[in-house]
Amino acid sequence: MGTLTTPRIRLATAADAALLARHRADMFRDMGRLNAATYGPLAAASAAYFARAIPAGEYAGWIATTGDETDAPIAGAGVQVRAMLPRPNETGTALTDGPEGIVLNVYTEHAWRRRGVAELLMRHLLEWSRARGLVRVVLHASAGGRPLYEKLGFVPTNEMRYTGTD
Ligand SMILES: CC(C)(COP(=O)(O)OP(=O)(O)OC[C@H]1O[C@@H](n2cnc3c(N)ncnc32)[C@H](O)[C@@H]1OP(=O)(O)O)[C@@H](O)C(=O)NCCC(=O)NCCS
Repeated sequence: MGTLTTPRIRLATAADAALLARHRADMFRDMGRLNAATYGPLAAASAAYFARAIPAGEYAGWIATTGDETDAPIAGAGVQVRAMLPRPNETGTALTDGPEGIVLNVYTEHAWRRRGVAELLMRHLLEWSRARGLVRVVLHASAGGRPLYEKLGFVPTNEMRYTGTD
């Protein structure tokens, strides 16, 4: 297990595309949803996505680093900003058309888990989302991530899924 000082959190840029892509592929691998042969293609396709979507403002990512002299990356999280149709607000009393955020790519390297790094990343993400005017933030929780999201105030919704299309 690594020795953690205070982790440093920074916003990702397009130059971090390969790192974000590795976090994404490692996340799916650890969730048991990615076989070895698909790791490389997913990482390559994701790097291309991040290199385009970050400058376009469609995706914002955060990277946690050790905060020591190496300042090595140890975790990441991101949010995709998605336009929504005009809709009633929660109370049905007014219209809202602000974008929503979808939390993606929450990943902490094994040696740095259970020290609050993902929680710290998520708090930065939520603060940014509020400032950016996102009307809501949604995610699909893995079994490992669920307690963290519940602690932050996320609640289950009525979403349904049809998986026959891919
Ligand atoms: C899920 C995941 C991102 C959590 O990362 P993490 O950095 O370990 O998360 P945190 O440390 O902030 O919180 C995780 C747990 O550690 C606990 N924790 C936080 N600080 C702690 C500390 N100093 N000492 C001991 N435990 C601590 C938290 O209370 C939490 O416990 P709980 O799960 O029993 O509620 C990480 O396990 C991971 O990458 N998993 C694989 C990919 C994945 O599932 N990603 C989520 C997709 S939705």
